[in-house]
Amino acid sequence: MTNRLAGKRILITGAAQGIGLAIAKACAGEGASLFLIDMDGARLAAEAEMLRAQGVSLGFARADITDAAAIEAVVSQAAADIGALNALINNAGINVFSEPLAMTDAEWQRCFDVNLKGAWNCCRAVLPGIIEQGGGAILNIASTHAFTIIPHTFPYPLAKHALLGMTKSLGIEYAGRGVRVNALAPGYVATQKSIEYWNSFPDHEAAKAATMKLHPGGRIATAQEIALAAVFMISDECPFMNATSLTIDGGLSVLQHQ
Ligand SMILES: NC(=O)c1ccc[n+]([C@@H]2O[C@H](COP(=O)([O-])OP(=O)(O)OC[C@H]3O[C@@H](n4cnc5c(N)ncnc54)[C@H](O)[C@@H]3O)[C@@H](O)[C@H]2O)c1
Repeated sequence: MTNRLAGKRILITGAAQGIGLAIAKACAGEGASLFLIDMDGARLAAEAEMLRAQGVSLGFARADITDAAAIEAVVSQAAADIGALNALINNAGINVFSEPLAMTDAEWQRCFDVNLKGAWNCCRAVLPGIIEQGGGAILNIASTHAFTIIPHTFPYPLAKHALLGMTKSLGIEYAGRGVRVNALAPGYVATQKSIEYWNSFPDHEAAKAATMKLHPGGRIATAQEIALAAVFMISDECPFMNATSLTIDGGLSVLQHQ
């Protein structure tokens, strides 16, 4: 363990599994104090207790990011447990994939409630405290869906495009108050979400093999590889990085063809 994140008190959303959990472990390994939230309270508690047993300073709560009042309460609880938050990683997100004309209004609403409004609920709850402390950092986990489109994934890419827009907008709005707001854009990552995506095809293994073949290196990212970038972006090692994004996709999005 080194201490690249010493003094950071970070709220991480969607921390019970996948990329969020990998980010939590990586940030803990760099000396941060954490407050972890997830809708899946049981899984979160199990993972958080394991980290605590390793000596990590953390608090945690079952919370739904779409519930603005619950998120305000989480920020107060975090201040009591680990001290006033000075960083936020908006990681929780869900796939809502449809053919546009087959999509229901409920699917549209759910997609934007979680992937955009949920992230805003957390920014709104955390930002006043960050500003009061003279600055801090917010990292939004977007996606390469924030720039490019895969057919039949509507409206998920719209929400990720908007999350990138929110990143730029808040980054500009609060730059003068010492707040950096950036986005991390992973391509395919080996998590439950990717397994569910492959399982949506009749031949799961063929779908997985096709995804691997798309990549110039013949594989997709691990959650840990995304977490390494998140540590850098939330740390003080990039103090002038603001209102921008970093793509971590093994080169897929710049590949013309192979
Ligand atoms: N896996 C990928 O290939 C990939 C690629 C690019 C971007 N992303 C993005 O990375 C983030 C994490 O993805 P993942 O693959 O780790 O997902 P995952 O499904 O493995 O984990 C997401 C976690 O978020 C929690 N969550 C979902 N909705 C929530 C809500 N309303 N309130 C609180 N918690 C909630 C879930 O319970 C779960 O623990 C998402 O924003 C996703 O869009 C993932």
